[in-house]
Order: sequence, then structure tokens, then C-alpha cells
Amino acid sequence: MKTQTMNLTQPKVTPGTIDEDDVYRNRFARPGKPLESNIIIESGALRKLETRGREFVPALCHEAKNYLVVDEIVDEVYGDKVLQGFRDAGLDVYKIVTPADAVDESGNPSAERHKTLAVFSNCVNEILESGISKNSCIISLGGGVVNNLCGFIASSLYRGITLVHITTSMMGMTDAAIDFKQAVNHQLGKNLLGSYYPATNIVIDPEVLETLSKRHILNGISEALKHALCQSRNMTEAIVDPLDNDIHQALRNSEYLEMVCRECIDHKVPTLTHYHESDFNEMVPQYGHAIAHAVEHLSFHSKGVSPLLHGEAVAIGMCVTAEVSHILGVCDESTVDEHYSYVSRAGLPVYVPDGIGIEGIQNKLCYDKHYVKKPTMGLLAEIGKMHCNRDGSFSVEVDNEVINQALVNHMKRRDEADRCSDLYTIEASNTLKTGHPSSAGFTVASDGSDSNPASDRSHSRSDSMESGSDRSSSPATFDWDPMTAKTFGTRQQGISNCYCNPWECQC
Ligand SMILES: NC(=O)c1ccc[n+]([C@@H]2O[C@H](COP(=O)([O-])OP(=O)(O)OC[C@H]3O[C@@H](n4cnc5c(N)ncnc54)[C@H](O)[C@@H]3O)[C@@H](O)[C@H]2O)c1
Ligand SMILES: [Zn+2]
Repeated sequence: MKTQTMNLTQPKVTPGTIDEDDVYRNRFARPGKPLESNIIIESGALRKLETRGREFVPALCHEAKNYLVVDEIVDEVYGDKVLQGFRDAGLDVYKIVTPADAVDESGNPSAERHKTLAVFSNCVNEILESGISKNSCIISLGGGVVNNLCGFIASSLYRGITLVHITTSMMGMTDAAIDFKQAVNHQLGKNLLGSYYPATNIVIDPEVLETLSKRHILNGISEALKHALCQSRNMTEAIVDPLDNDIHQALRNSEYLEMVCRECIDHKVPTLTHYHESDFNEMVPQYGHAIAHAVEHLSFHSKGVSPLLHGEAVAIGMCVTAEVSHILGVCDESTVDEHYSYVSRAGLPVYVPDGIGIEGIQNKLCYDKHYVKKPTMGLLAEIGKMHCNRDGSFSVEVDNEVINQALVNHMKRRDEADRCSDLYTIEASNTLKTGHPSSAGFTVASDGSDSNPASDRSHSRSDSMESGSDRSSSPATFDWDPMTAKTFGTRQQGISNCYCNPWECQC
């Protein structure tokens, strides 16, 4: 047998070196698979999977067994329709349903308590036992929790298989799914087990927001507002004006919500693409978060305080951060006033709730991942413009005394505010599971029958919700005062969202 001549251009050996301490050293490296994701926003995409499904799932996976992972609340409304849509597109798809809570301590539905290694293991076991191959795709269908969980699953199986996100919550559309960060929580903290791994495609169908509670939609809009305040005054106004005009209408207006997603993604994409070029790209997504993580955590653990959603805490955190900027002479007072004005006109809370004290916040700041001896944060010079240090960097180490003064100024403003103005009702979410107002084109099946199991119950909630506040007739509603973030009403006991340091959000 004739031997082929080896024709490789690579070196035959890479010799190690011996350093001055007589230690052998060598290294290996190769250029990695690029981190790259496509984002598709398409209204009605989930209704058209028979024709669109083969584009959303990459060709590599078309002959393989693929896995649709969905939490049980989203499954009730969209799971089987999406499964059937992919099957009608000729794809072999198997559905896995993960747990979710119809109500958590904040009074809202959430899958957060199930973003665990245990759920990860259950999913992985089911996938491994049912015909996975290296060409299989994990399709996440759900909010940020399912997106993050599936990202970690896809990055782990076979050391990395194809991932597609179909993100269904506003938080997913503006933030959680638009990233390479994939993770589950550990009992010692949030997002502690994870990886940086790209979804090949991230699909957003704004129609599905019809079934998400208004409070959850606003929660995701807060992250978009964060990009707006840091990057564009025009975007800030485009987000805030419709909410200020008629918040209930805006939160159910698919065109408005799609615009918010597009604007947010347009502004977030460069921070991801150019991540390593400047700490601007780290400080923008983290704007307001140093304070927010502390306030969010304390809201779950302070007597008499109703737990805040993450985006609500970010809204408050951005207002306190504006106070910091002013004390440090980075912005003028009008920029601080504008923060309070934009955030409250958007219907988000602006003030640290009564019951959370300055000392408590100070004690929690050290758990923020950007805390290095001192809290470190991005600051705004004006609306739409981040403050840049003389050396071209954007992160600012802030002394505890400055944070203290900022909180004093903030609380003074709060105590002087007219707290009784502008009350409106936001539903407590033990009604949300029964509260899908419709299901984005899925309510009526092609034979004309109501195919959505949640839709009957949905209309009752939807009606009472849309018609405004009636606290007495509905034990599941509470009034939420956007000026004080003070909540009244039912609170479910026994479900804990608590980790030792959940505010140390790695997102
Ligand atoms: N960069 C990042 O990786 C990043 C950024 C932000 C947030 N996150 C993560 O995202 C998670 C929060 O995401 P979330 O707020 O979407 O929480 P979630 O996934 O728990 O969704 C909230 C609730 O809404 C329900 N839901 C989702 N879509 C729905 C729809 N269309 N109709 C009706 N109900 C629907 C879910 O079942 C859940 O009960 C956190 O775990 C956070 O760490 C990650
Ligand atoms: Zn956030």
C-alpha cells in the first residue's frame, strides 16, 4: 500500500519553554466558533409555523429529532399549537414541559423558582432518553427563565447543539433572550451555573404579548427604557409618550410593543457585538442595576413591602442613580428631574418603597457583581448620553457617602411627593394563569371552535382588568401606586423566591 505524503502546513511540534524558575510552560488555542445570533421579529410568526418553521430551525436540524421546551403556563396557551406548527412544517419535534408558578410572592406568575439544576437534569434526562443526535435543536418557548434554561441545556448536550429561542415575555424580548448568557440558578445565588452560548435564531412574535399580564409587559419595557435613557432621548420619548397617554391601551397595542422591542434591540445589539471594545457595553445594560438588585432583594424580605419585579426595581434604581450623577457633578438637576418624570410617566415605580431603609440598601450593595471595594456603576451626563471618564472609560466607583446622600435626596423627594395621585390597578397574578385575554390568533381553531383552554377564564380577568380598579369585587387585584411602589392586597405565602444572594443577578 502506497503511503500519502503528509501535506499539513501546521508545525510538527510546539515546543514548550522553560522559565527562570525551571517551570515548563506551553499553551494551545484555536479560534472559536463565533458567537452569533440572528433576531427575527415577525408578528404572527407562531401562527405560520407550517411555512415559517423550517427557517426558524436551521437546516442542519431538519432531519434530526428536535426538542421544544416550554413552561407549563405558556404550554397551556401556545405549547401544542407551536408543536403542531413545527410538525406541519415536516420537522420531528418532541415537547418537554417544565414547571411554573401561577403566582409567586410578587403576586405574579413566574417560572423563576424552577430555573434550577433539578429541572435542567430532568430535561436533559428526557432528551437523552429520546433519540437526540448532534444535529438536534433545542427550541425554547417561554419567558426569560425557559430561554436561559434551554440555553444552558443546548450548550451542555454533546458539548453544544443548536439552540433556537422563541421568547414570549417582554423581559425575554427586550433583554433575557437577546444575549449569549445562558444559566440556571443555584441555591447560593442567581444565574451561578451557566455558559456564554449563542442561539442560532431568536424569534419574537409580538402577538403573544396579548396573553402576558400588563405588569409583566411593563416589567420588560423598563429594560428598554434603560437603553433609551442611556442611549437616546428620541427612544425615551417614543417609549414613554404612549404609556403616559393611555397606559392600558399602549400595553395591549401590538404595534407599540413591537416598536419598543425593535428600538431596544437596535440599541442593545451594538453593546453585544462590540462588548470587548469598551466598558460602555457593560455599563449600559447594567444602568440602575447596582441599586436595583439591592432594592429588589429587600422588597422580598422587608416586612410590609410587596415584592417588586426586576424591571420595577430597575426603574427605581435608575432614579437613585441619577441622584448619584448629580451629586458627583456629572449631570445637572434637570436630568434628575427628567429621570423621575420619564419613569413615572411610563407607569413604573420611581421610589424605594416605604419599609426599605438606606442602611439595608447600603448593606446589600456589595453583592452586586460590579462591586469592587466600592459600588461601580455607569452614570448619565444627560438623557440619552452616558458620562465618559477622562480616560475614555464609563464605569465610576462611587463612595458609600455619595450613595448615602443620593438615597437621602431620593427619600426626601419621595416623602414630599403626592402619594395619592395617579392610582391605577394592576392585577395580582394568581389570576394570570386563568387570565389569558386571548391567545394571539390561537383562540379560535380553524373549525371555529375555541381551542384555547385558558380563554374562557381569560375573559373574566381581562374584562375586570381592562375596566379599571375594583378592589372590593376582586380579591386578586391590588392597587399599585406608581408614585410610591406601595402595594396593597393579597399576597401568597409559602412560595419563596429567595436565594442567599438573589440580587447578585449575573444578567
Ligand atoms: N441577559 C440575560 O441573560 C438576562 C437578562 C434579563 C433577564 N434574564 C432572566 O430572565 C428571567 C426573567 O424572565 P421573565 O420575566 O420572562 O420571567 P419568566 O420566564 O418566569 O416569565 C414570567 C411569567 O410569564 C409567563 N409567560 C411568559 N410568556 C407568556 C405569554 N406570552 N403569555 C402568558 N404568560 C407568559 C411565564 O410562564 C412566567 O410565569 C430571570 O431568570 C432573569 O435572570 C436574563
Ligand atoms: Zn435587568
